[in-house]
Amino acid sequence: MTTAPMPAYAGPSRVFSGMQPTGGLHLGNYLGALVKFVRLQHEHECIYCVVDLHAITIEHDPKALQQQCREVAAAYIAAGVDPKKAIIFVQSAVPAHAELAWIFNCVARMGWLERMTQFKDKAGKNAERMSVGLFDYPVLQAADILAYKATHVPVGEDQKQHLELSRDIAARFNSDYNAPNFFPLPEPLIQGPGARIMSLRDGSKKMSKSDPSDQSRINLTDDADAIANKFKRATTDPLPLPETAEGLKGRPEVENLVGIYAALADLSVDQVLGEWGGKGFGAFKPALADIAAQKLAPIAGEMRRLLVDRTALDEILRDGAARADAISAPMMSQVRDIVGLWRR
Ligand code: TRP
Repeated sequence: MTTAPMPAYAGPSRVFSGMQPTGGLHLGNYLGALVKFVRLQHEHECIYCVVDLHAITIEHDPKALQQQCREVAAAYIAAGVDPKKAIIFVQSAVPAHAELAWIFNCVARMGWLERMTQFKDKAGKNAERMSVGLFDYPVLQAADILAYKATHVPVGEDQKQHLELSRDIAARFNSDYNAPNFFPLPEPLIQGPGARIMSLRDGSKKMSKSDPSDQSRINLTDDADAIANKFKRATTDPLPLPETAEGLKGRPEVENLVGIYAALADLSVDQVLGEWGGKGFGAFKPALADIAAQKLAPIAGEMRRLLVDRTALDEILRDGAARADAISAPMMSQVRDIVGLWRR
């Protein structure tokens, strides 16, 4: 039996990504996300969201949340995202996210969500006491992406499974409602240097703001002294740096530092090892700290400047929300029609 080939999704390619306003941005966020966001804006239509609806799935401080949203927005801009080009906005300012998430709740299956490893990791033994929102987090994420029919999503390795879920939801919606190719099946963009920045203390753990040790991460706001100190104390081994990438195997902490150096200096790992292979960490670490401080100082300075002028920053976010709404609101009317909901 043969079936007619399905016409492929014919909409424009569009990039969407989001970061949680949980406070404490660090080098992992910068190299893993922000650098990519900046690069992509020159090649694609890009929409970058600050996902406050995701932040309330766990305990949070209502008095701090708005300012934390401003901090993430300021970090986007300070890193080089141009708010005139890319759309920068706060999730809860645009109604499509929560509305589409509800509709997707009725498309996604319990079994799909029960397989999500991030929920299991976050909840641990306390799953019964977690909010329903935390369980449902990846459905809201699918709504974020598909409210704009985004086709490409720059994210970290840890979000791969959530992107698979987004594709499953999109495909199931398209087929359940007999709306072929209505939603695209969004693809993650994961490759590139800086895809995985690890803790400075333990090369098997991601650099994270929730690590109790501040020594484990370089914060975007750390000054040159703090940066030098943290790299100096970063876990390594007594051997010199290897001559080739092959020699990084089984040395995750070393691999991490070399990867950070390469990403910051815009070099390949081989180029870094070409220069540093055979040399010791006593020389490498201060050089790494210098590059990091040089890169991060202007970003921290620009963030501070943006955060002082709250009116200007809020205006940028209002403009971003209006542009995001202009794309997602008409899309939602189509979705409501497709699903059979009441016309507004
Ligand atoms: N879950 C993502 C993270 O923790 C954040 C996020 C929310 C997101 N919605 C998104 C990322 C949509 C990409 C697209 O990193």
